[in-house]
Amino acid sequence: MAANDIAASSATPALARAASVPEDLRNHIERLKRERDAVILAHYYVAPEVQAVADYVGDSFYLAKLAKSLPQTTIVLAGVEFMGESAKLLNPEKTVLLPEPQADCPMAHMVEKAAVAAAREAYGDDLSVVCYVNSTVEIKSWSDVCVTSSNAVKIVSGLPQRHILFIPDRNLGRFVAEQCPDKHIILNPGFCPRHQDVSLEELLEAKAAHPAALVLAHPECTARVLAEADFIGSTAEIIDFAEASDAGEFIVVTVDGVAYELERRCARMGKRFHFTRTRPTCEGMESVTLAKVVSCLETASGAVEIARGEAAASAQRTLDRMLECAARV
Ligand code: 13P
Ligand code: SF4
Repeated sequence: MAANDIAASSATPALARAASVPEDLRNHIERLKRERDAVILAHYYVAPEVQAVADYVGDSFYLAKLAKSLPQTTIVLAGVEFMGESAKLLNPEKTVLLPEPQADCPMAHMVEKAAVAAAREAYGDDLSVVCYVNSTVEIKSWSDVCVTSSNAVKIVSGLPQRHILFIPDRNLGRFVAEQCPDKHIILNPGFCPRHQDVSLEELLEAKAAHPAALVLAHPECTARVLAEADFIGSTAEIIDFAEASDAGEFIVVTVDGVAYELERRCARMGKRFHFTRTRPTCEGMESVTLAKVVSCLETASGAVEIARGEAAASAQRTLDRMLECAARV
């Protein structure tokens, strides 16, 4: 088996890593959760052993929606900073802990306020500033509505405004523009370095090596890469597609943390998953280790603090609006 392949069997690396969490450590985590009235949420990109001890694992939209409906008073968010901030904005009264508070998403900062001001000046009330959830609290506060990769097309197409400033991700923005031809979408130069770096050459090489495989890609990839895709979707949509598909082989074009859930769901189906030669990894997500999850449960460290005020209230509205719009479409 090539280094970048994962065959779905119990011996695959991600399943083996998840299974390696000792029973006594699992029991310790369960005890700490009870003592703190805590629940662990994890994104599909974090390490398999972290996903394995989480109560819920999902894509950005699932985690944001779920965070609002949970009874526990403490949420441990195994993910990057903007995910912890979204959970806190949606639940200001709860304690939200980030196991690694330095885990950041570079794209979350890639917007200039001047670009938002210029678009508002140019288009007035016929403009909606649509903000990918991968963004700071401040950037959300300049915006009208948040979206994630799983609901961006539906939410944008349902907005009454014709002009849309899509921030920060130019790749997701371009994908949305293609799906919403009635809208005038203004792009911003932000991007995810991990998805931007996936090379077309390496993808074509993987396709040549696995001609029967379907290509499943995240919309944060470049247009050249997405042009080769059989399916484009969020992490959860990619995993669901692979599980439901009749195909037996897939080239997965997103961060390789998704391998664990793909293996877990498809282990008995004999499905095979391949990545490009340079496997896409996300530094921020990788820095969220199991030891840090345990430590933050033990000490309640990494609490997300968002200063109350105009910016927080405005950012919270953009997330609430996303949940309302997503429930309608
Ligand atoms: P999803 O919403 O697809 O989980 O994406 C999150 C992310 O950071 C993609 O890079
Ligand atoms: Fe941010 Fe990219 Fe990592 Fe997603 S994969 S969290 S967009 S850096």
